[in-house]
Parts: sequence; C-alpha cells; structure tokens
Amino acid sequence: MLRTHTCGELSLGHVNQDVVLCGWVQRVRDKGGMIWLDLRDRYGITQLLFEEGKTPANVLETARSLGREFVISAKGAVIERLAKNDKIATGDIEIRVAELTILNPAKLPPFLIEDETDGGDDIRMKYRYLDLRRNVVRKNLQLRHQVARYTRAYLDNLNFIEVETPVLIKSTPEGARDFVVPSRMNPGEFYALPQSPQTFKQLLMVAGFDRYYQIVKCFRDEDLRADRQPEFTQIDCEMSFVTQEDVLNTFEGMIRELFSKVKGIDLPEVPRVTYADAMRLYGSDKPDTRFEMQFVELKGDDRDLTSGKGFGVFDDAGLVVGINASGCAGYTRKQVDELTDWIKRPQIGAKGLVYVRYNADGSIKSSVDKFYSEEELKKWVEAFDAKPGDLLLILSGQGDKTRKQLNELRLEIGSRLGLRNPDEYRALWVIDFPLLEFGEEENRWFAMHHPFTSPKPEDVDLLDKNLGQVRANAYDMVINGVEVGGGSVRIFEKELQRKMFEILGFSAEEAQEQFGFLMNAFEFGAPPHAGIAFGFDRLCSIFGGADSIRDFIAFPKNNSGRDVMIDSPSAISDAQLKELAIKVAETAQ
Ligand code: AMO
Repeated sequence: MLRTHTCGELSLGHVNQDVVLCGWVQRVRDKGGMIWLDLRDRYGITQLLFEEGKTPANVLETARSLGREFVISAKGAVIERLAKNDKIATGDIEIRVAELTILNPAKLPPFLIEDETDGGDDIRMKYRYLDLRRNVVRKNLQLRHQVARYTRAYLDNLNFIEVETPVLIKSTPEGARDFVVPSRMNPGEFYALPQSPQTFKQLLMVAGFDRYYQIVKCFRDEDLRADRQPEFTQIDCEMSFVTQEDVLNTFEGMIRELFSKVKGIDLPEVPRVTYADAMRLYGSDKPDTRFEMQFVELKGDDRDLTSGKGFGVFDDAGLVVGINASGCAGYTRKQVDELTDWIKRPQIGAKGLVYVRYNADGSIKSSVDKFYSEEELKKWVEAFDAKPGDLLLILSGQGDKTRKQLNELRLEIGSRLGLRNPDEYRALWVIDFPLLEFGEEENRWFAMHHPFTSPKPEDVDLLDKNLGQVRANAYDMVINGVEVGGGSVRIFEKELQRKMFEILGFSAEEAQEQFGFLMNAFEFGAPPHAGIAFGFDRLCSIFGGADSIRDFIAFPKNNSGRDVMIDSPSAISDAQLKELAIKVAETAQ
C-alpha cells in the first residue's frame, strides 16, 4: 500500500505516530510562515501542516507548488492541533509533513469540488468523475451500496436466490418502447433490452426456483422525468405457492427492514387503500399520505349541495370536489388569484377555482356569494368538517379529469404549507387496481400493469361482461407520493393467459409468436406464483431525501437521454452499419 492510513481515521490516539497519507488537495492556506493543506480521500479530510524552519525547505517548496486536486502522498508525524475543528472526524489532529510527493498534478477543475458547488448540472454531468468526488454525491452512492447490501441480506435470509437473466431479449409490443440492438449474425433482426425480467422470472418459477430475486438493470425508451431514467435498476422478486397477502407481508417486511437498517427509522405498519378509494380521496394512485387533506365531494354520487342555485358551472359539472387548506383563510385575494392562475396553466388545465373562506370570526366569504347564501355555504363548510380559519378550494368538471387536477392542487398546497417534509416517511399499499384500461386513441384495451397479471378470482366472470370493471390482484407500494414498487399475482393457466392476449387484441398467431414460450411453459407444470419489483434508484432517492434519482446513479443520463460525459448516443460508421445490415440512406433521413 502507498499509504498507512486513510484521510478519515486519524485521531488523538495516533499522536506521535509516523503515517503516510494519499489523496487529493482540497484547499491550501498559505499564511507565509505556515501552510495548511486539506487532504481529501473517500474517507474524509485530514489537515497537513508545513512550517517554515521546521519543515524541510524542499518540502515547503513543493507544498507551495500544489494546486487544487493534485494527487499527493505525504509522510509525517501526527500531532495534536492547537485549534480543533469539531466539524470533521479528524479535527483534533494534523500531520507535520516531512516528505511530500506529487503523484500526479491536476488541471484546475471546472467547478468547485465542495458540498456547495458553483457547477451547473451540465458541467457536473460532463465531468461526472469530478462531481463524484464531492461528499454529497459520494454519500448518495454509499447509501445505494448499503441499500443493496441490506436488501440482499434480507432476501437471502428468506431463501431467495439471485439469478441473472439475459439482457439481449426479444422486442414485444406491450409496455413502454423498447431499446433495440441489431444482430450482426442475423441480418435484419433485432434483440431488445429488457424493460424488466418479467417473463424470465416467471419461467424461473416454472423451473421450480420458488423464490427468486435480482438487483437488475432495466431499459425503457420513455420520456424522462426526475424519477425516470432510460436505464434504471429494480429489485425484482418472484415467489411460488403464495397469495397476494404473502407477497405484501414479505415485502412490507423488506421495506421496514431497510428503513430500520439504513435510516434507523421504525416504519409503522403500512396501511392499504384500494385503487378506487385512492382515486376518490386523493385523485391519484400514488397519494402522498404525509398529510391528510382528503377530497370532499359537494356534488357526486352521494350528494349534491351545489345544483339549482343559478351557478351554471357547477350545474353542468358531473363532479364538484374540493380540499380544505386548513388555516389558510388569511390568504389574500392576490394569493388566491395566483393559485387560480397556477391551476389554469395548460399543464394542469383547470377552468377555474372556487374558494370559500371560513373566517376566524365565523363569517363565510366565497367567490360564489352571488349564487349561494351563507346558509348554503355553511352546509359546504360542514361537509368539509372545516374550522374557522380554513380555506376551501373547489374544482368542478368531469370526474377523473377534475380529480387529477385537484390532486395537483393538493400537492402544491401541501408543499406550500410545509406538510411534505423529506425527513418524514409514509408508506402505503395501493391494491385492487383495475386489470385493464381503455386506450381511446388506439381504441383498444391495455393491461394496466402487464398482460401477465391475474384478475381477481371473483371478477373473472366480468371478463366476458364488463372489462372496465375487472379488478386485478395487483399492488403498488407508494412512499411519500412516489411509486416505489409494483407487482401482481400472475396468471399461470395457459387458457386464461390466452384469453388475456385475445382481450388485448392479439390474434392467436401473434400471441403464439410473441409469447408462445411462456404459454408453452404453462403446459409443463407452472406453479401459482406472484411477485413484485421495486425501483431501486427511487428507493435510494427517498432514503436520501431527494426528488431526483439522478444523484443516486453513478453515471446517469440527462433529460434528453444523453450521457454527456461519454457523448452517447452517437453515430456509428457506415462500415458498422453495413455489417449490421442497416441501410445507411434510411437512417440518415
Ligand atoms: P413496473 O413497471 O411497475 O413493474 O416497475 C417496477 C418499479 O420500477 C420503477 N421504475 C422506474 N424507475 C426509474 N426509472 C424508470 N424509467 C422506471 N420505470 C419503473 C418504479 C416501479 O414501481 N415487471 C413488473 C414488476 C412485477 O410485476 O413484478 C414491473 O416492471 O419504482
């Protein structure tokens, strides 16, 4: 080893020892007779001391020639510091340097390698290896390592075994877009990169593996957001001879274990909500349950407190629904107008916002006073269980569309009121998803989860009557409003699987061509099985208290799906294209 210790481990117990440290120059402070240098490595920072008269002249001279990020080796004695620094672990000591070697000089980095950096996103991504030297980013990757370690330990303990599945597979029309890879040996044919190992893990169940997991890369060619990357990692799991209840319990246990080991938090039991209730109460299948603010319907299936008073907007609406922004009656007209503009932006698209102010003195003031008497508004206030000082914010329109808009407003108000604290955690199971959803544009049914998800046994009859009503044995885990995982009980009978493909618009030949391998396997003794996959990057970002998963991935892609460091994707040579039997003229168009 070139060093005796790391930059994070020396303390008063090492005083008078001769040590050798290696690392990067973080900062040099030259006060004339004295030079202090912060030496950094992965483990921490140690202060080096050079002193005129005491340090050999050639060493002093070398120290004066150092720039930021030079890689050096320093030998010297550990001494007690006069001015201690309680902010770093090695703050009680420093090294009086006797020998100094420059292992490699460094160009001036394009941004500050400090917790608070002056580098923007693009430059940090281009020089990601420098960004990764920053504590904050390095800590995120250390956290990721811990989450992986504890995940493996938990699953190993329960007899799960990790099996690798192939990365060059077959393109299928369901789900997101595939990334495809041309096959040189089979001109004109393509592999696809897996969107998930779904069918392989099911085949492993047919093979009798019983409990499988894999921390695995998945690839989806979809538009990117803060919580989406084109290549991301799943904790992918499957079990045989289990019910939905067994899967929920096993993986609630895993999440609880991770919270306990990684965060030192005892996560309470994870409540369950049906998809139908989640949509009704929060307008979302991934509600943030760190705060209540559930929807209240003034006009809906159960009651109508708004019609027939001359307010056409509410009279024409199928749904009038709102939230109680508790304690917000003091919002000024300007603040409410600003909220109205916010919710009318095209991204959300509400037509308008009605407010009811339940003033601290008990009086009620609303934006629809012209139509509704105080007596009538009182009924609204009661429906919301509002208290003096509260502000009701109400939208109207078509059912699901209006609920989705109100969901956005609920989250915005939650953020403004500071109710979405990143250090607080609320997990939730959303269960009983619909099996199918209708694509208006394509004019056909799609599997809401994927085509291998089984209908609830009590809803199987509805497959012939009312497809929109069929519920699935499918479940998502949501933490703080983020979908961190999802799975289902699978179809394991060939006939039901065949029927499912038929419903999804596959001809018998297409189903056989695309998924024949799975349906054939079901004829050779497939056990009942079920599983789940967690978004590993998302879990890490939640543990790290961040919204974006990018900082938990060593080398992520930017929002255009580019790796700006290696400059990918990139063109390939005509010779390569030819070898792959891809026509150059067509690709250039
Ligand atoms: P699903 O498609 O729900 O299920 O994916 C499981 C989890 O993976 C995460 N995730 C993503 N994370 C980052 N970037 C993305 N582009 C991305 N897409 C998904 C989410 C999601 O909950 N095979 C099934 C699982 C099963 O049925 O067992 C599947 O892939 O956190």
